[in-house]
Amino acid sequence: MITEAAKRIREARAIAVLTGAGVSAESGVPTFRGEGGLWRQFRAEDLATPGAFARDPRLVWEWYDWRRQKIAACRPNPAHHALAALESVAAEFLLITQNIDDLHRKAGSRRLVELHGNIWRVRCTREATVSALPDVPLAEIPPRCGCGALLRPDVVWFGESLPVDALERAMQAAETCELFLVVGTSTLVQPAASLPLVAKGRGAVVIEVNPDPTPISHLVDVSLQGKAGEILPALLAARRGSA
Ligand code: OAD
Repeated sequence: MITEAAKRIREARAIAVLTGAGVSAESGVPTFRGEGGLWRQFRAEDLATPGAFARDPRLVWEWYDWRRQKIAACRPNPAHHALAALESVAAEFLLITQNIDDLHRKAGSRRLVELHGNIWRVRCTREATVSALPDVPLAEIPPRCGCGALLRPDVVWFGESLPVDALERAMQAAETCELFLVVGTSTLVQPAASLPLVAKGRGAVVIEVNPDPTPISHLVDVSLQGKAGEILPALLAARRGSA
C-alpha cells in the first residue's frame, strides 16, 4: 500500500494536503475526539463559541491559556517534518490545516493555509486588529487591547465563518490538485471535511493516513492505517526510492 501511495505521490505535479489534530497527536497536542480527546475534559463545544465568550470571557481565556501552555511545550514531530519535505519537492503544493498550533510552520511548511486560525494570534473585539500574543502564561486574563477592549483568540469558533481568503485558496487547491492527502482528521467538521470529496469529484487521487477508519475511508483511493509520524516519513522514503 505504501509503495502504491508513494508512486502516486511521485507522479503528481500538483498536491494538496489536509491535516487535522491527529497530525499533532504524536507531538503531545490532544486531539478533539477519540481517546484522550480534549473535549472529554473541557467540553469544547461549550467554550469555543462566541456566546460562551460573551457570557464568560475569563473562563474561555483560562481554557485558551491552558491550551497555549500545553502547545508551547510541544515540538513538530516526524509527520510535520515529512510534510515540509514533501512541499520542497512538489511543483505545486498547498498544505491546508485545521490545526491552530503553528507546528506546521515550525517544521518549515510555507505554502500553508490555516483554516481555523492560529492560537498565537489575538484579535481586538472592537477594532478587529490582529496581533501576536506569545506570552505563556498570559500576564492578564482576559487580555485587553491597548484601546481597552477585550482581545479574543484569532481562531474560528463554532457558528463562525472561516476566513474567506483561506477557504478560497483551499477550495482552489482541492479543485485543481492531482493528488489529495488527508492526514489525521476525523472529517466531521465542515467545510474542511468536504475538501477531499471535492478533489475526488475532480478526478484527483485521494490518500488517507489515519489509525482509525473515518467517514471518507471507503471513498479514498488508498487508505494507510497507522500513525502519521510513522506513515508519512515511510511514504517520503518510498517516494524517493521509487524515483
Ligand atoms: P479530531 O479530534 O476530530 O480527529 C482527530 C483524528 O486524528 C481522528 O480521526 C484520529 O483517528 C486521528 N489520529 C489520532 N492519532 C493520530 C496519529 N498519530 N496519526 C494520524 N491520525 C491520528 O480532529 P480534527 O479532525 O482536526 O475546529 O477536528 C476538526 C475540527 O474540529 C478542529 O479543527 C476543531 C474541532 O472543532 C474548530 O475548533 C473550529
